[in-house]
Parts: sequence; C-alpha cells; structure tokens
Amino acid sequence: MLTLKSFVIIVAAIGATAAKKPKRACTTTTPTPQPTSPPSQNPPPPSGGGQAAGEYGSSEEWVGDNWFKGWDFWAYPDPTRGRVNYVDHDTALSQNLTSTTSDSFVMRADSWSVLDPNGPGRNSVRIHSKRSFTTHAAVIDVRHMPQGSGTWPAYWMCGDNWPHGGEFDIIEGVNDGEMNLSSLHTGPNCTQPKQGRDMKGSATQLNCDAKAEDNQGCGVVSDSPKSFGPNFNQAGGGWFATERSENTLKVWFWGRGDSSVPDEVRSSSGFVSPSTWGTPYAVFVSDSCNISQKFGPNAFIINLTFCGVWAGNTFDGGKDACNDFVNNNPSAFSDAFWDIARMSVYE
Ligand SMILES: *[C@@H]1O[C@H](CO)[C@@H](O)[C@H](O)[C@H]1NC(C)=O
Ligand SMILES: *[C@@H]1O[C@H](CO)[C@@H](O)[C@H](O)[C@H]1NC(C)=O
Ligand SMILES: *[C@@H]1O[C@H](CO)[C@@H](O)[C@H](O)[C@H]1NC(C)=O
Ligand SMILES: *[C@@H]1O[C@H](CO)[C@@H](O)[C@H](O)[C@H]1NC(C)=O
Ligand SMILES: *[C@@H]1O[C@H](CO)[C@@H](O)[C@H](O)[C@H]1NC(C)=O
Repeated sequence: MLTLKSFVIIVAAIGATAAKKPKRACTTTTPTPQPTSPPSQNPPPPSGGGQAAGEYGSSEEWVGDNWFKGWDFWAYPDPTRGRVNYVDHDTALSQNLTSTTSDSFVMRADSWSVLDPNGPGRNSVRIHSKRSFTTHAAVIDVRHMPQGSGTWPAYWMCGDNWPHGGEFDIIEGVNDGEMNLSSLHTGPNCTQPKQGRDMKGSATQLNCDAKAEDNQGCGVVSDSPKSFGPNFNQAGGGWFATERSENTLKVWFWGRGDSSVPDEVRSSSGFVSPSTWGTPYAVFVSDSCNISQKFGPNAFIINLTFCGVWAGNTFDGGKDACNDFVNNNPSAFSDAFWDIARMSVYE
C-alpha cells in the first residue's frame, strides 16, 4: 500500500521531472476525417423520438482485424524520449508485434532483441484512431495491458495544436502501478474543484493547464487496486468506459469479475446511457474549465513506451539504469503487450 508520504513523494517526483516533458506531437499523422466504417449491425435506437437525452448510438466498433482499418500505426520518434522505436504497420506485422484473431487485437514490444546502447530503442507500437470525436461515449474491453519494470503504457485522447485541443489521459501508469491515473492537460484557464465531484477516485493536482505545475495535469488516482498493471492482468482485465458530454469528462472501470458491470458495457450494444452506469472513478467538470472550449475533436491513442521522462525518472536507479535494463533484458518485456477484446464508440 502506498502511504500518504510516499504518495506525496511520487507526485513531487512527477512534478519535478515533468518539466522536461516536450510538447506532445499527438496528432502528427491524424488525417482529416475519413469516411467512417459501416455502422455496426446493432439495433437502431428505439423509434418514436430517436435518441434520448444522455443516450449515445453506436458509431464505431473495433474487434479483431478491423482495428487495422480504423487505426494508423504511428512510427515517429517518441516525444517523451522513451527508449523506444515505434514501428510502422508492415514492420509490426512482419515481426509479429501486432496480430489479431476473430476476437482479439494484440500489440506488443520486442522481447527477444538485446539492443545496442547507441542504436534505436526497443521496437514497440503506438496507434491512433483515424477518426476524432467530440461528445461521445466509449468502451474498451481489455484482457491484458503491458506490464513490467520500465513500461509506460497509455490509452488516451488528444486534440490538435497541443495542448489547446486538449488531452484526456484515460489509462496511464508506469512501472507496474506505482501510480495510475486519469488526467487532463489543457490550454490556460482550466482547473478542477478539490471537493464536490461525485467520483470514487482521489484528486491529485487541480490545475489542468499544461503550462502550470510543470505539466502534471489535473489528475484523479483510481480507487481500484485492479485497474492497472499486474493486478489488472491477473484478474483477467476489465472494461474502461468514458463519456465526454458538453460539460464533463468521466471515466469508469469494472474488473473482469465485477458483477456490477452494465450489460451494455459488457457486450456491444446499439446505444448506451452512461447516466445508468453508477459513480465514475474520475469526473472532470466545467465549473472553472469550459470543457467544450478546452477540448476540440480528439483522436484515441494507445501507446507503449519505456523509461522516458516519467517511467525512467521513477525507475529504481533513474533513467540511465532504466535504459540499460531495457537494452539488456529483452525477456523482461514478454508481458509488455496489449490484448484488446473490443472497443466501441457511441456518438
Ligand atoms: C503515451 O501516452 C501518454 C498519455 O498518457 C503521453 O503523455 C505520452 O506522450 C505518450 N508517450 C508516447 C511515447 O507516445
Ligand atoms: C504472434 O503473436 C501471437 C499473439 O501473441 C501468438 O499467438 C502467435 O503464435 C504469434 N505468431 C507467431 C508466428 O509467432
Ligand atoms: C493505483 O494507485 C493507487 C493510489 O496510489 C493505489 O492505491 C493502487 O494500489 C494503485 N493500483 C495499482 C493497480 O497499482
Ligand atoms: C484566461 O483568463 C484570463 C483572466 O480571466 C484572461 O485574461 C485570459 O484571456 C484567459 N485566457 C484564455 C486563453 O482563455
Ligand atoms: C464555453 O465555450 C463555448 C465555446 O467557445 C462557448 O460557446 C460557451 O459560451 C462557453 N460557456 C461558458 C459558460 O462560458
């Protein structure tokens, strides 16, 4: 268990190191909106009035092979200076760093090569959804997320002209869950209240402005010990769900064995009503942050890097020790993979 004191130290460490975070080139390759994939075979919303307030209808669903249609591989230098080499789609396929079955999409890091310390970093993958979204709800059913010392996996959203189009980090943590949180990074004039948000998690820093507080972002730490890293994987993973409305951003998590997961989250559905999902673990509100103004259209991103400005600086022995570890211990990354059963977006 993390004591309050070590928690404060970790937060302070993130603050101290985040100063080095460069701008996040999150939309380098996000093309202009593409024709969307055909609507899924789900029943249309109930007739007689169409979609009700607070309801979202199915617009995108990715399972197995069709991940390759809806997402681009992003093969550029890591903006967070991780010990990583992001590969393109063809390289990922030929090295089996990505593979699919009818109900799984796997992305992994190279776990067999010893690296030349002067050469490129460990091969890995980072993907971006071709489409961007404004108000929507999304569900991702994850069986396994990358684990291992030095890993920094993330599932997040990002807009143009960072940070002005907004950044919404949904799952992010380092080194197997020393810290795991959801957070926002925005342009100026966006803060979150300390009290009064109806959520299960705990607020950390409250200023979302990427130029303030060394770009820590305004975070909420998950209340669930099974929402990240080895604990998450041992439990068989679970579901993360998000809602972006005009005025709020919310995140929910249910572990695999959790009987309270709503049916419309557990399985793909024609439409969803997040107001029926219970208390989110993270809530971000517009009280002193105009969310519709601070967030433009955002694409989804799933990445896996090593060391870098966060995982490296919190690694035992620091960044150099982290890089050495990544260079010399390929087998330590055999569990550094994502296995995703399904992702659905509702608009
Ligand atoms: C990975 O995701 C996080 C979002 O939490 C982002 O801050 C970071 O820049 C990303 N790193 C890489 C290397 O893509
Ligand atoms: C590729 O990776 C998948 C998923 O990890 C695995 O099931 C499959 O056996 C691998 N294929 C080869 C040819 O190694
Ligand atoms: C996530 O962070 C919280 C607070 O720091 C901690 O209590 C919890 O155990 C962490 N979860 C995991 C999976 O490490
Ligand atoms: C932020 O707020 C200050 C003070 O209210 C105002 O002067 C400034 O124009 C605002 N900036 C933006 C980008 O909204
Ligand atoms: C929030 O920003 C939007 C878009 O710029 C604007 O239309 C709206 O009036 C703003 N809301 C408030 C409460 O300032």
